[in-house]
Amino acid sequence: MSHQPTAPAPVRHTIPSLRAAKGAQKLVLLTAYTAPMAEILSAHCDMLMVGDSLGMVVYGFDSTLPVTLELMINHGAAVVRGAQGVPVVVDLPFGSYQASPMQAFESAARVLKETGAAAVKLEGGTELADTIRYLTQRGIPVMAHIGLKPQSVHVYGGFKAQGKDDATYRAILADGLAVAEAGAFAVVIEGVMEPLAAEITRAISIPTIGIGASAACDGQVLVVDDMLGMFTRAARFVKKYDDLRSRIDTACGAYAAEVRAGTFPAPAHCYGIASDSNSQKKA
Ligand code: KIV
Repeated sequence: MSHQPTAPAPVRHTIPSLRAAKGAQKLVLLTAYTAPMAEILSAHCDMLMVGDSLGMVVYGFDSTLPVTLELMINHGAAVVRGAQGVPVVVDLPFGSYQASPMQAFESAARVLKETGAAAVKLEGGTELADTIRYLTQRGIPVMAHIGLKPQSVHVYGGFKAQGKDDATYRAILADGLAVAEAGAFAVVIEGVMEPLAAEITRAISIPTIGIGASAACDGQVLVVDDMLGMFTRAARFVKKYDDLRSRIDTACGAYAAEVRAGTFPAPAHCYGIASDSNSQKKA
């Protein structure tokens, strides 16, 4: 299979330039889990995110909790190989960083060494500020993730918007302030209402990347399979830019019909006879 690079992204960001882009440009992020997809998305994105959502999107788990560090490293390395001049951030999966700053450092160091990614992302706010500080002081760029933290799905009792009452609103605002103060270069805000996302965005000096958190954020991220229409169900905040599921269904239906009818492969898809040295070379 050939991998022709597509047009380069307009600005080739680094972690410091992404951080400095707050207020100057809206940042565009998408998830990617494979090399070919990373190659396509590189032309359009300021950063690619290897989210642990791959557990649900690629592996069919019903949450991100079963995802292992090995899975993240394998997909992270594939995405870095496909990415064309775009920085890649890889999620630290559940259980690989919460125990202590040292555990987080060991996991994050493996991710950076074994994938070539530029940064790691972890879910947490105030409670993980010490860990974020520990990592950044030791050379590991960290993106934080606050609001709806999918690894806490069982604490919430489902994937539910957060910050709807006064206490959780204030707690998430405090999370935003804490991760910025601890040295995160950016923060994902997921599943909160616009006033909270806007208040955090105004209050901190690092970019906020929204997912289900309104246009008030400094940038946006979506799960690429969701926005391409690979699933019949998607969260309210997802806009489907295509309907790949039905297009794949149509294409595969056409293939199946032609195989059954004996019309595929046609002569054009067959190798020549053995005496045809040209076609042998191509094979
Ligand atoms: O796991 C993921 O894909 C994510 C983003 C969509 C924010 O955390």
